[in-house]
Amino acid sequence: MRDGFVVAAPCKINIHLRVLDRRSDGFHDLESVFQTISFGDELRVESLKERFACDVLMDGPVPPERNIVFKAVAAFRRAVPFDGGVRIQIEKRVPFGAGLGGGSSDAASALIALNRISGAELDVAALEAIAAELGSDVPFFIRGGTAYVEGRGERVFPIPARDDYHLVLVNPGFASDTGRAFALLDAARDSASVPANAGLSRDLLISSVRENPEQWPFFNDFLPVLERESPEYRRMIDGLAAAGALFAGLSGSGATCFGVFSTRKDAETAQLRLSAEWPFVKAAVPLARAGKAVLE
Ligand code: C5P
Repeated sequence: MRDGFVVAAPCKINIHLRVLDRRSDGFHDLESVFQTISFGDELRVESLKERFACDVLMDGPVPPERNIVFKAVAAFRRAVPFDGGVRIQIEKRVPFGAGLGGGSSDAASALIALNRISGAELDVAALEAIAAELGSDVPFFIRGGTAYVEGRGERVFPIPARDDYHLVLVNPGFASDTGRAFALLDAARDSASVPANAGLSRDLLISSVRENPEQWPFFNDFLPVLERESPEYRRMIDGLAAAGALFAGLSGSGATCFGVFSTRKDAETAQLRLSAEWPFVKAAVPLARAGKAVLE
């Protein structure tokens, strides 16, 4: 057996995403329902003999030292006395700028792997605190599953998950820049050029997850703003609805949209149909179980 192990880094969708006003620090508080799904990256984690060594290997545009996984290793070392060397090879499947939290999930999975190989045995709350230093979406991924998320993303309330629906993801083949999406939303609000969605109470959001997706009251505040910029967003949402989705929405700040279907067959039929038009179309299911799967 090779040294090391593989840990899954499932991505997420935002079933619901409301953006509150810009704060004095420039960030925005959110009210969101997050859901991990059965699609994502994988991390192969190995120990190295050299103390403090950190190799992050990944094909892609980001140099290793700017990779969020590299930053996760540094943050973990600051939090606990751990000087072991590590090599983390990222099998990247989630597109960049997709609104699926690919990098954030990689970072959370790296923290979980380091917690295991260092023997530090930090609890979930301690891992979430390190995760919050790394990015707004990272704390959610420590547990995953279904959660109501508030603040910048650091207040995570797990809610009972369901696994009785199927998903189809559609990505238009371009990345969405999160900072730009927030700036567009601020500008639209300042000029009152898009109607504001009314907030939904936390209780309603949590109880609605159990409802028939056709009745879901969920929305994503970025969608009307991004739609004005790129016609692809409306085409993805309408295409999912025309392919039979019970609910269709935008994940994160784009650019991926998702549709909810009641059966695998319906999802596969929609996947086939949408693949004729879009470069990246995936079928997936919600992950009902929280926690990270160690795969080997
Ligand atoms: O979290 P991430 O680094 O992707 O955020 C990029 C930018 O998006 C931030 O610099 C900030 O301008 C904006 N942002 C925000 N409120 C959040 C998350 C991100 O305003 N909750």
